[in-house]
Amino acid sequence: MSDSPWELLPTASNHAASLDWLYLALTIVCGISFVLVIGAMFYFMWKYKKRSDEDRTSPLTHNGRLEFAWSAIPAVFLMLFFIQGEIDFVKLSAPPADAIDISITAEKWKWTIEYPGRSAASTTEVLDGEIAPLLVVPKGQPVRLLMSSKDVIHSLYIPAFRVKKDVVPGRYAFVWFTAIEEGTFPLFCTEYCGDEHSSMLAVVKVVPPEDYEAEVRAATTLEQGAGETIEAFGEKVYKAMACNSCHNPDASVKVGPGFGGLFGKTESMTDGSSLTVDENYLRESIYQPNAKVVAGFTPQMPSFAGQINDEQMNALIAYIKSLK
Ligand code: CUA
Repeated sequence: MSDSPWELLPTASNHAASLDWLYLALTIVCGISFVLVIGAMFYFMWKYKKRSDEDRTSPLTHNGRLEFAWSAIPAVFLMLFFIQGEIDFVKLSAPPADAIDISITAEKWKWTIEYPGRSAASTTEVLDGEIAPLLVVPKGQPVRLLMSSKDVIHSLYIPAFRVKKDVVPGRYAFVWFTAIEEGTFPLFCTEYCGDEHSSMLAVVKVVPPEDYEAEVRAATTLEQGAGETIEAFGEKVYKAMACNSCHNPDASVKVGPGFGGLFGKTESMTDGSSLTVDENYLRESIYQPNAKVVAGFTPQMPSFAGQINDEQMNALIAYIKSLK
């Protein structure tokens, strides 16, 4: 499956092979230069060591041809690397006109994926036992990811595709690729963006083009399954919306309060008042997180208004109530 020079990573996009080739060429040329330069240094240290007081320095001062050669040959290699690098860079910067646009919004600490004509919804896929949003892309068709950040600088990185780009608040950034291999590949945030930076993951799933529409539909629908309990569905919402980035299912504090035993508890608020955690407080805190903040925490939760519908909210509250 992998034809990467080091067989470390799948070469799963159109960009991978030429970038790998450039890296391999750079590594080989730099390795050879290193051996030649450091080898010559040790040889001359030994050869020209002053062996006695009568040892005289050679009257030769320089060798024009040799000096020209050791400047010109590396310069040729540098130009070759520059030209190949420029070709790759231009290719990476120019998405084809027929590329499918998929929007990705980064915020502390989740990726929200929106497909054209389909509202925001994340779904989940297991990655090393972790749950993460799923980005579905068709094999063999160019895809452009239009990225923005709601808060700080994040950076989107899909190693198997060899694409990486900072996502800076206040402007759009993009990467494009054509996936050439079916399978699932990890997507990372690769700019330190706070406490839960390392859990800011997603999974890219490359599917056959004929399955793409159906897979996107499945990935953007978060509904209670037949025979699924409301608490189990609520747990799915909890993970799909990345609530677990900040709230543990037990009583321990992560970024925000743990959900275990939270329901029915009396909490003091930052404004000095106190209230008992009930359904309305949970609902308000999910839609308007900064309305009433529990004392000891900073108001940094994003609003989920427009992202969690009534059915999902009921399930999420049922799930939180079930946690002791
Ligand atoms: Cu987002 Cu690191």
